[in-house]
Amino acid sequence: MTDIAKLVERFELRFGRAPQWVVRAPGRVNLIGEHTDYNEGFVMPLAIERAVWIALAPREDRRVVVESLDFGGMIDFELDEVASAQPASGHPLRPSGRTGPTWGAYFAGVAWSLHHTGWPLHGWEGVVQGDVPVGAGLSSSAAVEVAVACAFAARGNWPIKIVPVATACQRAENQWVGVGCGIMDQLVSLAGKKNHAVLIDCRSLEWRLVPFPAEAAIVIMDTGTRRGLADSEYNMRRAQCEQAARLLSLRALRDLNWENWPSCESVLPEPFRRRARHVVSENHRTLQAVEAMEQRALDRLGRLLVESHHSLRNDFEVSGPALDTMVEIALAQAGCLGARMTGAGFAGCAIALVDNNSVHDFVPKVTAEYQSRTGLEPKLYISQPADGAQIFDVETALRHQSG
Ligand code: GLA
Repeated sequence: MTDIAKLVERFELRFGRAPQWVVRAPGRVNLIGEHTDYNEGFVMPLAIERAVWIALAPREDRRVVVESLDFGGMIDFELDEVASAQPASGHPLRPSGRTGPTWGAYFAGVAWSLHHTGWPLHGWEGVVQGDVPVGAGLSSSAAVEVAVACAFAARGNWPIKIVPVATACQRAENQWVGVGCGIMDQLVSLAGKKNHAVLIDCRSLEWRLVPFPAEAAIVIMDTGTRRGLADSEYNMRRAQCEQAARLLSLRALRDLNWENWPSCESVLPEPFRRRARHVVSENHRTLQAVEAMEQRALDRLGRLLVESHHSLRNDFEVSGPALDTMVEIALAQAGCLGARMTGAGFAGCAIALVDNNSVHDFVPKVTAEYQSRTGLEPKLYISQPADGAQIFDVETALRHQSG
């Protein structure tokens, strides 16, 4: 866990004065609605307790100077230089294409994107640290982006408007970092709320909170596997979905539903048919999951998670052996209501919905069984839905952590 007192101390050591604000932006798990956001469909993620924190203070010049405690090293960039950079060409803090993005790319990319959205930018210096595992499918990149946006908001004294800030962060990732993600991760990192999931309509960008049942916990199950830097499979799925929509003369696969699907299905060749079937069925499941949560029908919610996993594995083909093994082991345990892979897929994390009374037995049993079957070291975290991004003064941040 990030120790805020240590983060503040580190800031004082590095910059010789106290920070003025501490900002926090959480990672997320997606409860259901996977690979639907870029098809303008429905998603229902929740923010988690793991987060990225930045302690910061204003600078009088127009530079941003940041030290990362997780990755080591400092970045130092001039705001006007980043603002005028062309996203497609060389700024030192742009990924080069051959290597993955460095952590500094997210800082410069968010500054660039906020500037082009019309927010005034001012210089600041900070120290960043987080405990969202990187590359595990828990949206550590979105958490960094949102934390950086919050740092600029604190410094510029402008209010955080959730949808425009999420969109600016997504644009930073799409156009500066070069990853074609949807809006889900950034939006939930901002809009998340303790004890709630967030239903997002990724076409209208309307969102609302859905109470998470108090009787159950989410267990995040990190398989210990990581997908490569390339993200090429993700981009390929996205392109296949867009192609399927084009073949049906639709704006997006969102325009399909269970009623009109039978008449469209036969028009699509493989693999477009299975890709589209996943999106149509997943949108349907997501709306059913909202109902199940509102009616506290936990068994139904659990079954929907399992169906989602099967659809991601068979129709969308984004699961992987480690994720499938983890889900299978989880589902065999007492008190496990449902389980599925979460995030982009291939590797990283799965989630399980587990009855509160069983959750403490669940964790050691799944850990031992997964270890013995795969030889891999899993990490399991019991989690409850957490609040979205926050800007604190230093005292409140310290109190927040101790409380
Ligand atoms: C990644 C992307 C999200 C979403 C998921 C799949 O996490 O960042 O926008 O597309 O994959 O649901």
